Amino acid sequence: MSASPRTSDATVVDRAPVTVTSLLEQKRQGRKIAMVTAYDHPSAVVAEQAGVEMVLVGDSAATTVLGLDSTVPVTMDEMLMLSRAVRRGLKATFMICDLPFGAYEASDLDAVRSAQRFVKEAGAQAVKLEGGDLMVDRARAIVRAGIPVVGHLGLTPQTANALGGLRAQGKSAEQAVRMVQDALALQEAGCCALVLEAIPAAVAEELMPLLEIPVIGIGAGASTDGQVLVWHDLLGLLEGHTAKFVKPYAALHGEMVAAVRTYADEVREGVFPAREHTYVIAADELGRFQGALAQLHDAPGA
Ligand code: KIV
Repeated sequence: MSASPRTSDATVVDRAPVTVTSLLEQKRQGRKIAMVTAYDHPSAVVAEQAGVEMVLVGDSAATTVLGLDSTVPVTMDEMLMLSRAVRRGLKATFMICDLPFGAYEASDLDAVRSAQRFVKEAGAQAVKLEGGDLMVDRARAIVRAGIPVVGHLGLTPQTANALGGLRAQGKSAEQAVRMVQDALALQEAGCCALVLEAIPAAVAEELMPLLEIPVIGIGAGASTDGQVLVWHDLLGLLEGHTAKFVKPYAALHGEMVAAVRTYADEVREGVFPAREHTYVIAADELGRFQGALAQLHDAPGA
């Protein structure tokens, strides 16, 4: 038997559900919005208990939990499975699901059908897509189908090859102007929010007064309406290089390795399991059991 389903509602503070409207209101009031990614049920429960406004089931799942080299190969079915698990852990938190590479770019019909699957099969409250330009039409089509859309500009990892790698964007005046035009076009298309990834803080500062929708930054400085961090970066769950914009709030990888190593040592040394981890049988039942075993042993043909 593995870990049983747990409920820890005692620590959950009841709060009003986060909606597109409440996020807009939060922006208007100048209250910052906190967003994290999550890819499974326990993480969703933690995000819910921590009281973040938004959870993104990001296609960064490809690299953080599926062990892939980039976000490109992750499939609709994989994203849907992870999204359903996250959904079960959320109550008031607003859930956005990333449309994976290849699921929306080719046509408005593809975009709408993929977005509908996230809503119907995983309970998404919004979908996110990467890019400006042609993707503005895709965003508009999904919005017209009644599904809130979050845009994503700047570093768009799904098209990193076209951007020359995973590097900051908007560092030339031309690039920055194009980003402003794309942001305004996505807003005009009906996007309910925008993610800006890895762009100069000064470019974000110029853009912010032009946008009415909430803008969530990741490596875009402090002027945006909110911030998002990837779960594994925030908690220090992975080893190795992290982007400049990451602030780890814990170092769980090291703690996890230490815990598993201690467990393995204790198993080898016979320290675990101890008495308190073992089930008992009443003395009379044990006696009867041992008697029955002895009879089995002494029986002819045994
Ligand atoms: O997939 C992801 O984690 C994202 C965030 C970086 C915004 O798109």
